[in-house]
Amino acid sequence: MPVYVLHLMNSYQPNPPFMDAIKQYIDQHQQRFLDEVIDFLKIPSISADSAYKADVQRAAAWLEAKFQALGMDRVEIFPTEGHPIVFAEKKVAEDKPTVLVYGHYDVQPPDPMDLWHSPPFDPVIKDGKIYARGACDDKGQVYMHLKAVELLQEMGELPCNLKFIIEGEEEVGSTHLAPFVQNHQDLLQADIILISDTSMIANDTPSITVGLRGLSYVEVEVVGPNRDLHSGTYGGAVDNPINVLCEMIASLKDEDGRITIPGFYDKVVNLSEAERKELAKRPFDQEAYQAALGIKATRGEAGYSTTERASIRPTLDVNGIWGGYIGEGAKTVLPSKASAKISMRLVPNQDHKEITQLFKAHFEKIAPPTVQVTVTPHHGGQAAAVSIETPGYRAAAKAMGEAFGKTPIPTREGGSIPIVALFQEVLGVDTVLMGFGLNSDAIHSPNEHYGIFNYLIGIDTIARFHQHFAEAE
Ligand code: BES
Ligand code: MN
Ligand code: MN
Repeated sequence: MPVYVLHLMNSYQPNPPFMDAIKQYIDQHQQRFLDEVIDFLKIPSISADSAYKADVQRAAAWLEAKFQALGMDRVEIFPTEGHPIVFAEKKVAEDKPTVLVYGHYDVQPPDPMDLWHSPPFDPVIKDGKIYARGACDDKGQVYMHLKAVELLQEMGELPCNLKFIIEGEEEVGSTHLAPFVQNHQDLLQADIILISDTSMIANDTPSITVGLRGLSYVEVEVVGPNRDLHSGTYGGAVDNPINVLCEMIASLKDEDGRITIPGFYDKVVNLSEAERKELAKRPFDQEAYQAALGIKATRGEAGYSTTERASIRPTLDVNGIWGGYIGEGAKTVLPSKASAKISMRLVPNQDHKEITQLFKAHFEKIAPPTVQVTVTPHHGGQAAAVSIETPGYRAAAKAMGEAFGKTPIPTREGGSIPIVALFQEVLGVDTVLMGFGLNSDAIHSPNEHYGIFNYLIGIDTIARFHQHFAEAE
């Protein structure tokens, strides 16, 4: 049985009896905590693939039952035109603050399947980690919050009122959550929003995320001749849509790695030297980074560090590209069309809708007269920045400080959780991004995993957060 190794870490304990009780409870119940989350991970709640619609619903129902078992006052599944939203609430006292926990129970498709060492929806524990799609992103992290409720209730009463909103469409752009938030502002009112869907620097270097990038995602199609052609008969005379697409994509960045779309950087807020210095304090080992990814060098926008390129600077990347013959052997063909999926990660102040428009206008403009280009926008979202000067951040820093024995470092991350900016805008409530994953957990990749240490210390830290937030308010 894996052992909860917290006691190995030299944490300082301002309130020993309470802390010891938390540790003890987790130690005693860790096997069941693991069994339960494994049960959850067995449900293939893939939001992107309509073939799994029933499974996504099953995951929502699974959560509903778990919330009911926790004795929540209200548990409700809100159907949407897409996947359902799970809401739960427990009110302990009028005069206590309310924490709204957000997370998602949907997962990314597991492809490519052949690269998994064990089936993605048949979780296994190996080397102290749970391997399964969604183990870290975000089912494992969501379930920590339910276990923190159990723990606090077993130890007495919840220190604050709690609301949960767990959606099933985060991985496909939170399409139906956005209007839901607009239409349920009273239901969602809270003093703080707490989210565990991000990562930490390392298990011995806790951090709290204070910035997320936004996203603009488009699909492009380049169409040439009205049919596939013999590449000998026509090659050299008729423009090849795949060649054209590659040229167009290549022109979107200059030799300094800067994006060439006119107006792209206009609204980017450049960090001050002082802010960049502060960020640079984050420990980072370039060699280890490269070794972990099996690359000999990194490349990006000139004048910025690897950490900056992956967090505070915007990007443009091809996520997928196709066209022509990709079957076995060689087929001599000049394809009639080519396509690509392109994402742009955005930073605060860049508006994703505006960037999508800038992309579209530019991409259509640079198309040669030999082809026809269509740009279709997919989902997007705004970047988010959260302050460290809030009672929520302070409670999180205190909780992490106690559980890990080290003060957490505020960090900005490159991923996106579009609903965070919307929560800020519509509900006017601050968010705390207290995640427990690691960048090495392979989220969205084959062999996604989540450390048992992370899972258990997450439960511990979340319980402490509720305690400290309630005390501060
Ligand atoms: N949990 C991630 C976002 C994330 C990952 C934040 C790592 C910080 C560090 C989330 O589930 C995710 O994958 N979001 C998508 C957003 C998109 C589908 C709109 C993303 O970032 O690609
Ligand atoms: Mn996530
Ligand atoms: Mn994700």
